[in-house]
Amino acid sequence: MPRYERKDHLHQRAKKEGLRSRAAYKLEEIQKQFSLLSKGDRVADLGCWPGGWLEVASRLVGPGGRVVGIDLAEVDPPIAAPNVTALVGDLEDAETGARLLEALGGEPADVVLSDAAPKLTGVRERDRANEERLLEAIEALLPRLLQPGGSFAIKILEGPEAQQIDRRLRTAFAKAKTVKLASTRKGSTERYLVARDYRGGEG
Ligand SMILES: C[S@@+](CC[C@H](N)C(=O)[O-])C[C@H]1O[C@@H](n2cnc3c(N)ncnc32)[C@H](O)[C@@H]1O
Repeated sequence: MPRYERKDHLHQRAKKEGLRSRAAYKLEEIQKQFSLLSKGDRVADLGCWPGGWLEVASRLVGPGGRVVGIDLAEVDPPIAAPNVTALVGDLEDAETGARLLEALGGEPADVVLSDAAPKLTGVRERDRANEERLLEAIEALLPRLLQPGGSFAIKILEGPEAQQIDRRLRTAFAKAKTVKLASTRKGSTERYLVARDYRGGEG
């Protein structure tokens, strides 16, 4: 089955190349298309476990940059790069914004990435509600977490509720594009909204 082969191929490739996850290829694909990350950038990575994006982002921002991730799960083994910090926490918790900001050194990020996705329950209504809550929590974090003019990439699982949030998010940026990545598993409903020039918190 093509779907199985594709999954297998990228998993095997990730393993061979010593990557923590096949998800790493997604950020590389986004970077190739949009050049989102630059040397020296300060980056927040929401839903970062097991750390594939952290490693890619760490390399792209270089030693002068900083990458702060957060996930419900602990990134283990920890990322060895000195420009990476991985926090354990829930994006829906009230104190998460302050914790991320502190780890970023007190200044909002140049780039916010989110590959976060709720664990699927198999009950469609519940899965959609969980995705909606997660996207809303991330949307609510942006004003304090992303600096005006900053960039953003977020995974969105298709659904009527997600569409509304997608629309709202787009208005917060001067430019936005939705892409389906080649490295996404065939049949998946995931898309990435890639947006630039954040208008800023109060806009
Ligand atoms: C597809 S994985 C991320 C893969 C990662 N980008 C990589 O490259 O290794 C999605 C992650 O989102 C996390 N997640 C889901 N809901 C979350 C929440 N409320 N708070 C923090 N992390 C969450 C999950 O724990 C999961 O590890």
